[in-house]
Amino acid sequence: MKILITGANGQLGRELTKQYNEKGNVELILTDVDTLDITNVNDVYKMVNETRPDVIINCAAHTAVDKCEDDVDNAYKINAVGPKNLAAAMNAIGGEIVQVSTDYVFDGTSEKPYLEFDKPCPASVYGQTKYDGEEFVKTLNPKHYIVRTAWLYGDGNNFVKTMIRLGENNPEVKVVNDQFGSPTSTVDLAKVIISLVENKNYGIFHGTCKGQCSWYDFAKEIFALKGMDVNLVPCTSEEFKSRAKRPKYSVLRNYMLELTTGDITRDWKESLKEYLENLK
Ligand SMILES: NC(=O)c1ccc[n+]([C@@H]2O[C@H](COP(=O)([O-])OP(=O)(O)OC[C@H]3O[C@@H](n4cnc5c(N)ncnc54)[C@H](OP(=O)(O)O)[C@@H]3O)[C@@H](O)[C@H]2O)c1
Repeated sequence: MKILITGANGQLGRELTKQYNEKGNVELILTDVDTLDITNVNDVYKMVNETRPDVIINCAAHTAVDKCEDDVDNAYKINAVGPKNLAAAMNAIGGEIVQVSTDYVFDGTSEKPYLEFDKPCPASVYGQTKYDGEEFVKTLNPKHYIVRTAWLYGDGNNFVKTMIRLGENNPEVKVVNDQFGSPTSTVDLAKVIISLVENKNYGIFHGTCKGQCSWYDFAKEIFALKGMDVNLVPCTSEEFKSRAKRPKYSVLRNYMLELTTGDITRDWKESLKEYLENLK
């Protein structure tokens, strides 16, 4: 099988590359913005026609949630037009596409975990553009896997590393305690994606680690596991103003995985423990 990964230098791209290389029997074509800019429709068709992959896994995205609010054109280009180009080019050769999406397609007003059957209602430019990307992929290529994840950390910049840096350099760290979600390791997410592709299990899926917490709880667990003595102070979203509106509650239930091939993700604390052990 031939698999083309876009955004291969990002957190998820790196983990997928690692897991596919460990598995073997897969020819990988690794691209990032310098070798394939997904916003350029001609380049995307050229690359797909020349390499003819069986599957494209789109890990490329404009992931800076606050920056998207002021960088709207680029957010639409990378998060919506890019997936459109990839989905259409793959459809033309009968190939499949994996589109990675986000919990931020929901506005976070629910009181129970979101299912794949709930209607998205994004509250930020990032969430809206990612949702538009999903819609393009759904419309332009029937052989699609759309996988929504959340609070992702892996090999790259992320909340876990930011907390460790802040904790090491500040007497006090303030973290928001009124937004809830599910921290997710790229290790778990990559396993979900690989399994979906192996099973040709098309459709929309939620792929997050199990359990839920606030950003404050997440930080508390990071410091506890690292044995760091940090004065961690909870605060509200009101106090910690950010440019983009973030959902208060964006816990996703991996319901479609439960209903089909089974949910292989771990509890968020177990995955975090493994991640921190490997960081040492
Ligand atoms: N990170 C999270 O907390 C989170 C949460 C929910 C969902 N997700 C989704 O999960 C997926 C993977 O996220 P991630 O954290 O692995 O992202 P990431 O680390 O930010 O990686 C994204 C990669 O895409 C590249 N890229 C940007 N514009 C591109 C373009 N026009 N063409 C090709 N490549 C381009 C980036 O390059 P540069 O670095 O040079 O820009 C980067 O290498 C994304 O779809 C994201 O929306 C992430």
